[in-house]
Amino acid sequence: MEKLRIMSVFGTRPEAIKMAPLVKELKSREEIESLCCVTAQHRQMLDSVMEVFDLKADCDLDIMTPRQTLSTITSKCLLGMDGAIEQLKPDMILVHGDTSTTFAGALSAFYHQVPVGHVEAGLRTYDKYSPFPEEMNRKMVTAIADLYFCPTKNNRDNLQREGIDKGVFITGNTVIDALKTTVRSDYVFATQELNELDYENRKIVLVTCHRRENYGEPMKNIMLALRQIAEQNEDVELVYPVHLSPVVREAVDAYLRGAPRVHLIDPLAADEMHNLMARCYLVLTDSGGLQEEAPALGKPVLVMRRETERPEAVDAGTVKLCGVVQDDIVTMAERLIRDKSAYEKMAHAVNPYGDGNACARIADAILWHFGRRSERPADFEV
Ligand code: UD1
Ligand code: UDP
Repeated sequence: MEKLRIMSVFGTRPEAIKMAPLVKELKSREEIESLCCVTAQHRQMLDSVMEVFDLKADCDLDIMTPRQTLSTITSKCLLGMDGAIEQLKPDMILVHGDTSTTFAGALSAFYHQVPVGHVEAGLRTYDKYSPFPEEMNRKMVTAIADLYFCPTKNNRDNLQREGIDKGVFITGNTVIDALKTTVRSDYVFATQELNELDYENRKIVLVTCHRRENYGEPMKNIMLALRQIAEQNEDVELVYPVHLSPVVREAVDAYLRGAPRVHLIDPLAADEMHNLMARCYLVLTDSGGLQEEAPALGKPVLVMRRETERPEAVDAGTVKLCGVVQDDIVTMAERLIRDKSAYEKMAHAVNPYGDGNACARIADAILWHFGRRSERPADFEV
């Protein structure tokens, strides 16, 4: 029997980190030819992930431009995907999550009548503009997809409420699979500055921030809050690998650079980032992926957003929304820095997002869908 040609499409850092273990799992299955098409919506940050996970692209659309707009990303991806699909002739296309690459990848698959599997399906805030444009991207991909790989039961329930009940699997999030390969207790950082931090006696606060809906006033508030936290707390060190987006870098330069006890560094390779997270005290972020990774590592997270599509770790008590108002961020962060019992209540490892076997379930589900397995894989249960 001919091998199934399964083409994974991704382009940004988080998609790559979460798809890397899946590309490898598919490669390990003898019935599958695992193909990899990168849009390179992110250039440097994608290449870094490809290197860490030792991945090679079969096709690279190389679309990134500085300060790219949503329309540019989507149209360049769509045009590039025509050639990729003609060249690689996939039987199924896998897209991940909610980026513009994800939406354009799914739309192009539809135009070519290639079935679509959506990895990390069913996340919702039900607010069209927050996160922007991600909430609409994932809803539009839901309309196109044939198979849905939901990380959690809650994600499956969201789809059910929208009338989607065919081809839906609860698999866990592939990010937990990735984390299992990167975090090690004896890890030595390639970034010397990270080896020199005093993890025992200082409170290392790991920070990231990049969301489009936070551009402007909210990002200014976030930067000023970070400055205030660093200035007011002598036992704290903020470590902030700054996203390469010029909009983010401008906000950092205008409002945060020069504050005491703030380490502004370039984006970290995924293995560096995961091991730093494993050793830090607290995470302050507006990232999606960090909301999944930090709880698995027992680290409290304050989410600098007004909503989250990831309520599971909030329910488990390790993640709290602190919004985007300067005073609120400072108050909630200082509580965790000063109040030991408030900190201990949040600092426990929970894994609502997966058990590290999401990729195996997804591969089994694909084989079952194509009639190459007699049994449907069992759903992931917490
Ligand atoms: C994108 C995704 C967002 C995801 C985030 C992860 C969309 C619309 N947004 O947002 O959902 O959470 O990635 O980080 O899909 N840049 C570089 N080098 C890089 C990466 C980015 O120079 O390796 C700069 C470029 O100037 C680029 C800009 O950052 O134009 C913004 O990148 P873009 O992908 O448009 O937006 P993100 O905020 O990264
Ligand atoms: N990450 C990384 N290096 C960094 C910052 C983040 O490898 O300097 C990883 C992080 O551990 C997570 C992913 O990138 O796996 C999250 O990406 P990002 O926050 O850019 O996007 P989001 O998850 O919000 O879509």
